Amino acid sequence: MPDLSAFIKGLPKAELHLHIEGSLEPELMFDLAARNGLSLPFTSVEAVRAAYDFSNLQDFLDIYYAGASVLLTRADFHDLAMAYFERAAADQVRHAEIFFDPQTHTDRGVGFDVVMEGLLSAMTEAKGRFGLTSKLILCFLRHLPEEAALATLAEAEPWLDQIAGVGLDSSEQGHPPSKFARVFAAAGAKGLKVVAHAGEEGPPAYVWEALNILKIDRIDHGNRSLEDETLVERIVADGLTLTVCPLSNHKLCVVSDLAQHPIKKMLDLGLKATINSDDPAYFGGYVNANFSAVTKAVGLTRDEIVTLAKNSFTGSFLTPAEIAAHLAEIDAYCA
Ligand code: ADE
Ligand code: ZN
Repeated sequence: MPDLSAFIKGLPKAELHLHIEGSLEPELMFDLAARNGLSLPFTSVEAVRAAYDFSNLQDFLDIYYAGASVLLTRADFHDLAMAYFERAAADQVRHAEIFFDPQTHTDRGVGFDVVMEGLLSAMTEAKGRFGLTSKLILCFLRHLPEEAALATLAEAEPWLDQIAGVGLDSSEQGHPPSKFARVFAAAGAKGLKVVAHAGEEGPPAYVWEALNILKIDRIDHGNRSLEDETLVERIVADGLTLTVCPLSNHKLCVVSDLAQHPIKKMLDLGLKATINSDDPAYFGGYVNANFSAVTKAVGLTRDEIVTLAKNSFTGSFLTPAEIAAHLAEIDAYCA
């Protein structure tokens, strides 16, 4: 098996599943805690990394929300996003569609405008410095009531021209997509794109609900769709993209071993899978690390890697002309 890491490194790609709060590296966590006069329940960066040993999604979420508590000011959100963009640009990411969790911040008294202004200033800087374009996807926390999501959508109203879509994240089990039917209908009526985490830990029924009730434009994770043949046929027929996150799936025990990861099977079934990093600071790597690790583990071919990169643009919310330009760049790179 040839080492395809060098090929992956230079391949133009988009990232469609990245929680900006999940890109908070322990070093920056300590810097921001010091800047804001906060203390952390850890004595060192190494101690933080040692705590990143998860048995399931909830184990991770508990530590992820604790980490996000160092984010207070516009500058904090700017610095967080800029650190991600620098790493993404180094991985030849040309476009990123970034999740953010406003409720994680507004519930601590941080203003919605503070979050938006910090993220948007970094997005402008990334476009200027790296030519890297990006869009924002506002995620509702599914462990909270739908009323809280509706209130968050109302708070977002003045910013809607800067937000591409809404998503659904946090604890999946026990919080089915149907719980958020009204807020997703309201977001769709405002012209926002809609996506949802579904089938990460939750059953195929949750993916069905995301399709039929939330009317999603893209599926985040979707791994457990493979348990339902009719569901797979539906996703293929609708041409929906799946934002798959291999290192996350391994760290959160969605797969017991990376060699068991279904990415190849997804492609074989005709699913438009993509590779993404989810929460790279917590799961051990950014997008290229995800490509390389899963390539080694399951033996992806060069053609499969190219398909995954092309899917990242065709599954994006860019315009057809923008997508065509990115696909042409991939073809030029491969030639
Ligand atoms: N929030 C951040 N990462 C997440 C994931 N992988 N699943 C659900 N919610 C999340
Ligand atoms: Zn995610």
